Amino acid sequence: MGSAGMDLQRQILQALETHGTVTSLELAGNTKQEHQKVVGAIKSLESLGNIVSVSQSTLKSWECTNEGASIASEGSHEARLFKSLPAEGRSVADIKANFPNSNFALGAAMKNKWLRKEGEKVVPAVASIEDQVQIHLQAVSSGAADSVPDKLKAEYKKRKLIKEIELNMFEVRKGAEFTTSITKQEAELTKEMIESGQWKNKTFKPFNFTAKGRVDLRAGHLHPLMQLRAEFRQIFLEMGFTEMPTNNFVESAFWNFDALFQPQQHPARDAQDTFYVAHPATTMEVPEDYLERVKKTHTVGGYGSTGYQSDWSRDEAYKNLLRTHTTAVSARMLYKLAQEGFKPVKYFSIDRVYRNETLDATHLAEFHQVEGVVADYDFSIKNLMGVIGSFFRKIGLTKLRFKPTYNPYTEPSMEIYSYHEGLKKWVEIGNSGLFRPEMLRPMGLPENVKVCGYGLSLERPAMIKFGMNNIRELVGPRVKMELILDNPVCTIDKFREEQKLSGSGSLSVESLSRRQELIIEKLTALQTKVANIASKMGVTLEGSLSTATTCLTGAPKSGVIHDVVVYADPRRPPYSLRALTNALARTTPVCRRVHCHSSVKEISEKLQQFWGSGVNEERRGCVVCVTLVWRQAGDSPLALLPTLSVSPVSALQVIGEHNIGRFLVRLCDVVSEPSSLYECPTNPVFTARVDELLDHSHAKFMLGSNKERAGFLRGVNARLGSEEFLAGPNLSLADIILLSGLIQLRMLESSPPNVQLWSKRCLSHQLCKNFL
Ligand code: PHE
Repeated sequence: MGSAGMDLQRQILQALETHGTVTSLELAGNTKQEHQKVVGAIKSLESLGNIVSVSQSTLKSWECTNEGASIASEGSHEARLFKSLPAEGRSVADIKANFPNSNFALGAAMKNKWLRKEGEKVVPAVASIEDQVQIHLQAVSSGAADSVPDKLKAEYKKRKLIKEIELNMFEVRKGAEFTTSITKQEAELTKEMIESGQWKNKTFKPFNFTAKGRVDLRAGHLHPLMQLRAEFRQIFLEMGFTEMPTNNFVESAFWNFDALFQPQQHPARDAQDTFYVAHPATTMEVPEDYLERVKKTHTVGGYGSTGYQSDWSRDEAYKNLLRTHTTAVSARMLYKLAQEGFKPVKYFSIDRVYRNETLDATHLAEFHQVEGVVADYDFSIKNLMGVIGSFFRKIGLTKLRFKPTYNPYTEPSMEIYSYHEGLKKWVEIGNSGLFRPEMLRPMGLPENVKVCGYGLSLERPAMIKFGMNNIRELVGPRVKMELILDNPVCTIDKFREEQKLSGSGSLSVESLSRRQELIIEKLTALQTKVANIASKMGVTLEGSLSTATTCLTGAPKSGVIHDVVVYADPRRPPYSLRALTNALARTTPVCRRVHCHSSVKEISEKLQQFWGSGVNEERRGCVVCVTLVWRQAGDSPLALLPTLSVSPVSALQVIGEHNIGRFLVRLCDVVSEPSSLYECPTNPVFTARVDELLDHSHAKFMLGSNKERAGFLRGVNARLGSEEFLAGPNLSLADIILLSGLIQLRMLESSPPNVQLWSKRCLSHQLCKNFL
């Protein structure tokens, strides 16, 4: 409390001493302080105990508006007009053109019979006037609104000259412990007060537990489009995709079109469709040998193609433009991949592209493209449809249809349609295809390498999600701030399966029973087949057809809600699962089992006992059931990655140990509490840093070449000790995944010194008890 506040409090107590009771209004008048300040001082006195007693009443009163106040001081419009008139009068046209509020002023002055008409002019009709309106408004201003007849007050209110206000007024009386001498209350207990013992003689201000905190805490908000981008990115990451660098909006026609086998005569290359850049108008360089191969493929063909059999100009290819699709970036990355030696990859990008479009409700000249590219040996359209299907299922679109289309750079090409439940029709959501050999082979990619790609816009799903029919509500100057401030954190229904599976809620029951129905359906079909075969072979089957189904539909089986199956290659045991399931088991009943798929011929005792001894294998009473299936799906780096499915019949698949780690940690969140492995309340960037390391170790370590692996470990070695997320005070997901990777690749012993020290620390952690 400042001393001015204390003064005011003393003045109030003084006034009470002399008058016995006072109101806040009187006090404001006498002390010449703002009413609000006086109220504050009264409240402070009230909080001191029984010194004063306070009662509140509301007081209605009148106040001039700005216009009313100007009339109170300058006179009404009609009076001002009257006073401005010369004795010979003034033409109506002149008044209308030059006098403010002329229509009203003329009308009112005529009605009051202050003026009369004389031809084209008005002249004064009386010698002097009394400006009633001004007198009344002056009365309102000085707090004497009572002297103005109610009827007139109503009229002035209607004309917005005065308004009614409500005032909270306080009446103050002496309290039981009234005194005029108050001491300042201390707001804080200090070290000095305790040391000197002064605290004994002080009075302390009570805590105000009902004070409102700051209601409107503004923090940074992400634009909904950027939120959606973050979600798409997360989905790609979980599917094991790597993000492509898309930070070049200006691109050469070569990479945007020519590298993609788009003929130079193609209409999309016209300036009506593409923005060309004036400064600098041309690109600096293009890999010369590659350019020659591209030129040859366009002009005379190659790789089994006749090409376009037309001219090809270097100048045309060198033109700079604003990229029209992110496929230009994909082309650069595929070329780079071919130069570095091909290995299977999954790439994605989400960024801006530019097209010279006629702007309308659904088109802008710039928008975002979401693009996925998958390259592997002997890939077919079937694989492409599978990749697209699993991607779209993850964003909540399950009903998909493909329609043949044409792209210069893909064959076959397919438009992707999804059934829109709201619009009750199929809407186009994307474009896709298998890149042509005419594009891939000149890059230097081997013949049996196939690459598929698909693209969609970010804006369209955003508009559908936010129920907008005009893109300008989403992008540009007409975007409402509320959209950004109030927009919900989570926008798309990814992890639908997880959501359905999570916790109580009818949703999970519904999805579980649907899943069960599916299983039963499949089982019944299988049993019918077996029965058919058996009867053909003349074999009678023991037991009845219903055995398999009754075991499923019978008594409800415990409370298992989260059922996950991890498929892993015995050559790459995902050791992190041990630590992560240990973490889960700390708060939740977990059941852990091991199976062996027929693709695995022999399995060591150690891997059969992967979870260690004494681990619960009984589903009954468990909330999470993790089944590890040893399976061999091939020898390529991608085939060696573990995958996680939430159930044998669900589409959701999580690929790679790092993503499985993320999934299990999130499962921790769902069934109990946020895990400190992935989140740190005091370090807001913790999760981001862990993520970064996870992705890096996946791409550069698990999927990397020997050289990349060594480089990665050197980098980690240098960072160790300075990073909280690597063997910091708390174990992180990055620690666990990295350690597991090192053990799988048998690189622990040969790793640099800090890494060895770090691994020992990790292994001594309680969660990693049965890690090795
Ligand atoms: N580039 C395409 C477009 O702009 C999308 C696409 C990407 C198509 C990759 C096929 C393969 O619509």
